Amino acid sequence: MLKSIPFDQTVAFQLLKNHKAEIEKTSLKELFAGDPQRFEKFSVQFEDILLDYSKNLINDKTKATLVALANECELDDAIERLFTGDIINQTENRAVLHVALRNRSNFPIAVNGEDVMPDVNAVLEKMKGFSEKIISGAWKGYSGKSITDVVNIGIGGSDLGPVMVTEALKSYKNHLNLHFVSNVDGTHIAETLKKLNPETTLFLIASKTFTTQETMANATSGRNWFLENGGSQDTVAKHFVAISTNEKEVTKFGIDPENMFGFWDWVGGRYSLWSAIGLSIILSVGYENFIELLEGAHAMDKHFRTADFNENLPVILALNGIWYNNFWGAATQAILPYDQYMHRFAAYFQQGDMESNGKYVGRDGKDVSYQTGPIIWGEPGTNGQHAFYQLIHQGTKVIPCDFLAPAQSHNPLGNHHQMLMSNFFAQTEALMNGKTREEVLAEFVAAGKTEEEVAELIPFKVFKGNKPTNSILFKKLTPRTLGSLLAMYEHKIFVQGVLWNIYSFDQWGVELGKQLANKILPELATDATIESHDSSTNGLINAYKNWR
Ligand code: F6P
Repeated sequence: MLKSIPFDQTVAFQLLKNHKAEIEKTSLKELFAGDPQRFEKFSVQFEDILLDYSKNLINDKTKATLVALANECELDDAIERLFTGDIINQTENRAVLHVALRNRSNFPIAVNGEDVMPDVNAVLEKMKGFSEKIISGAWKGYSGKSITDVVNIGIGGSDLGPVMVTEALKSYKNHLNLHFVSNVDGTHIAETLKKLNPETTLFLIASKTFTTQETMANATSGRNWFLENGGSQDTVAKHFVAISTNEKEVTKFGIDPENMFGFWDWVGGRYSLWSAIGLSIILSVGYENFIELLEGAHAMDKHFRTADFNENLPVILALNGIWYNNFWGAATQAILPYDQYMHRFAAYFQQGDMESNGKYVGRDGKDVSYQTGPIIWGEPGTNGQHAFYQLIHQGTKVIPCDFLAPAQSHNPLGNHHQMLMSNFFAQTEALMNGKTREEVLAEFVAAGKTEEEVAELIPFKVFKGNKPTNSILFKKLTPRTLGSLLAMYEHKIFVQGVLWNIYSFDQWGVELGKQLANKILPELATDATIESHDSSTNGLINAYKNWR
């Protein structure tokens, strides 16, 4: 159980409040001018990942006080509880052990006195054997043909992780075509099935609970399509497998438990790509690459557990985020990967972060009186530059940004990568330095204009700068590095939840909408006028009924 420590009652919280008033009198530019060692001081390398956090509105005192805040909130105790299988998901009475899924050192981790590692390893072995048969073509469909297409049906954590990783590791892909169906909108599965042949298609029904409405509806439609297009009840086993913790529901759906890949209630949905939910990843890039992904995550886990907070990547990222979230009024955090393969990275951490830390109730059961989880968003650079960066540069909001980029491209085409990287470096520099009135004027003068001619334009061309960024430069987007990056962000989210004194591993906030949708669904089955809701909801439902 995690202790309840009131974040805003700590000594460090008060010190940081006062310190903010001091530091806002200076600027990033001045901080750099005043300290030639600033990059060395505020950057840290872990394996092939370099985190440069020097372009943040911090100095030695800020960092020391943020670390003091982490100590006051007993972060070290929380980290140990995470890694030793303590029941830290209090409201669901569960341990939180995604770290066990990638525990490549295989040290025992006990839940209720029992080591979970033998079960973890057994499922990995089962996935290995199964995936080898599918990839090699030895596994045959009902007409004797090998599998060519795999459809993962799942939503939330049972979709976003596998989609993001298979996209990120596309350059490691084999011949199998991967498809992901998540939305209950029939368009999603209908458009996917249009391209497929039931004889050579394998469905993975991925759902921790095996009760999620969207997934069960899509799974049923997938099975109907299979049965209507040549498949039969007897051959379902060759084309449908389940990934779940719920054997009872899997059997009820008609999937043989032999064809089920299990995991456990101590794996949170948004932390499940490391479990059997990663089967689609294995089918896409092979078992060895999946193991490399786990190895990378495990290496980051060890770093997180053992490194001093001053040198600890997830802790540094978390503390910087708290600095802006709670002391500078930042409501959002942008994640901007300069790598097209990482185009679902921000979307993945939208769930990872917002479902974890979007909570207003503290661990003491009372409403918190401070801000908790930020709004996470972002798109790959350079596309984002031509879309929303204007607001980051000249808008009125504080938007801390994480810039990520690989030094080496998987596709070294002409000088594309240098162009990409020049933008990566230029953006954080521009956000920090901005452009002064004098610089704008000098540009105009160089272009042959006088000050009088351009006086009206000058204010619009000035950039104040002083915008905080982290740069995360890594050598190459390999499975290992990706694993480390993912674990780094997962632990960042954990640290923030610990300090904000909230429970990061439940998600009660998504339940109400599900309950109401279940109540409304039967109301849509008839043409009767609906009067059971407020006037807006009644009005919308009745307008829909008139138009359908
Ligand atoms: O939307 C809530 C949620 O429970 C997520 O946390 C989860 O990832 C998703 O639904 C899917 O759940 P399941 O894997 O049980 O289908």
